[in-house]
Amino acid sequence: MNFHTRKWIKPEDLNPNGTLFGGSLLKWIDEEAAIYTICQLDNNRVVTKYMSEINFVSSARLGDVIEMGITATHFGTTSITLYCEVRNKITRQRILTIDKIVFVNMNEDGKPEPHGKTKIVYSSEKFKGDNI
Ligand SMILES: CC(C)(COP(=O)(O)OP(=O)(O)OC[C@H]1O[C@@H](n2cnc3c(N)ncnc32)[C@H](O)[C@@H]1OP(=O)(O)O)[C@@H](O)C(=O)NCCC(=O)NCCS
Repeated sequence: MNFHTRKWIKPEDLNPNGTLFGGSLLKWIDEEAAIYTICQLDNNRVVTKYMSEINFVSSARLGDVIEMGITATHFGTTSITLYCEVRNKITRQRILTIDKIVFVNMNEDGKPEPHGKTKIVYSSEKFKGDNI
């Protein structure tokens, strides 16, 4: 699993307890998962359908750096299922895992549409000669 995106925890990301606000993290995860899905399905019209339970096992403080990893675990007909892990690069602790995030591939009429994809495609396969 690649950890593509890192975030530097700033004052506006904190809750009154002085730790990372869960809602901020969930917004970042949803966006990260959406971008992953768009790249895998070659369609920017995708919507979040389902997220399994989330257990925040540790947190982050002001100035910490966190990183988010997403990988596809299942390609359905109109859906894709992802696994997510977030970890703290400063404390070296896992912040959370999400076993299932499901996105649905939509057409121009706002209806689910088969995406035709069956496996993960890496950037290096899409951009010849590039290794990002
Ligand atoms: C996405 C949406 C169009 C799907 O509608 P639907 O009637 O459930 O459509 P379908 O029954 O055809 O299911 C579509 C896919 O989602 C999957 N799915 C449906 N409910 C699911 C659930 N609870 N958990 C996991 N996957 C689910 C189906 O298995 C199907 O995948 P497949 O084609 O790979 O087998 C509709 O639920 C919707 O518009 N939801 C709101 C999405 C949204 O706005 N998200 C942003 C949140 S604010």
